[in-house]
Amino acid sequence: MSSLPLTIMALVSTPWCRAAEDGIPEFLKRSIILQTFGVKFDHPCQDVENVVIPPFIPPESVQTTLEKYPLTGRRDIWAFFRGKMEVHPKNISGRYYSKKVRTVIWRKYSGDPRFYLRRHRFAGYQSEIARSVFCLCPLGWAPWSPRLVESIALGCVPVIIADGIRLPFPTAVRWSDISLTVAEKDVADLGRLLDHVAASNLSAIQKNLWAPDVRRALLFNDRVQEGDATWHVLSALAQKLGRSSRTVRLSNQ
Ligand SMILES: *[C@@H]1O[C@H](CO)[C@@H](O)[C@H](O)[C@H]1NC(C)=O
Ligand SMILES: *[C@@H]1O[C@H](CO)[C@@H](O)[C@H](O)[C@H]1NC(C)=O
Repeated sequence: MSSLPLTIMALVSTPWCRAAEDGIPEFLKRSIILQTFGVKFDHPCQDVENVVIPPFIPPESVQTTLEKYPLTGRRDIWAFFRGKMEVHPKNISGRYYSKKVRTVIWRKYSGDPRFYLRRHRFAGYQSEIARSVFCLCPLGWAPWSPRLVESIALGCVPVIIADGIRLPFPTAVRWSDISLTVAEKDVADLGRLLDHVAASNLSAIQKNLWAPDVRRALLFNDRVQEGDATWHVLSALAQKLGRSSRTVRLSNQ
């Protein structure tokens, strides 16, 4: 390995991404970057070999929540979102936070009893996710957020509202089977779209979502396990390096 002109770096923070708007720093050009950021269109933050990875959620926290709120238990919240929501979004250099998507959700649905929307932090939010049928995952400054992985890990159907988002491990996780995607321009129609799914294919989506391999694929364990997030990162790297994933996996054991 030492002869390869290659560094592999895990960069998970958006500050790096903003810095990269001046271009990828020279020292990173020969790297493969592991990053949570991913979009399907050209963007300076991915102008380098990269693998999109899920944000890190401690598996123990998920386990603890699931012990109290089992996957198939009662879900008494219909649509959930907790997070920053600008009521009057400021125009910063021509950009609005979350492209105003969160503002539209708040204005349109905060008075709707089916929607449980909260704007302030709460340490027990994982239990809210575990009690919810649909978990809204609208873009913020970045298209992704940790709530996407938490929703999946806790069995709440993620409703992804982030046009052009590139999701992690597309060959391992069949995203269209376990989540819903709503176009940013359709966000004002969210209630009707969710109603439609609830009346048609919700239980099929939940069945796919609750399969253990889905949860496993998005969580990083302390010690790598076959089919977990670390394992999928190694497989993706192996593919880029033209090796069999078996070689990489064995070298990690
Ligand atoms: C937002 O700000 C940019 C420049 O900072 C300006 O060109 C644009 O017109 C502003 N948009 C609105 C809706 O005020
Ligand atoms: C469920 O229905 C929605 C809305 O019709 C559709 O977009 C989605 O692909 C369906 N998902 C599955 C897994 O059948």
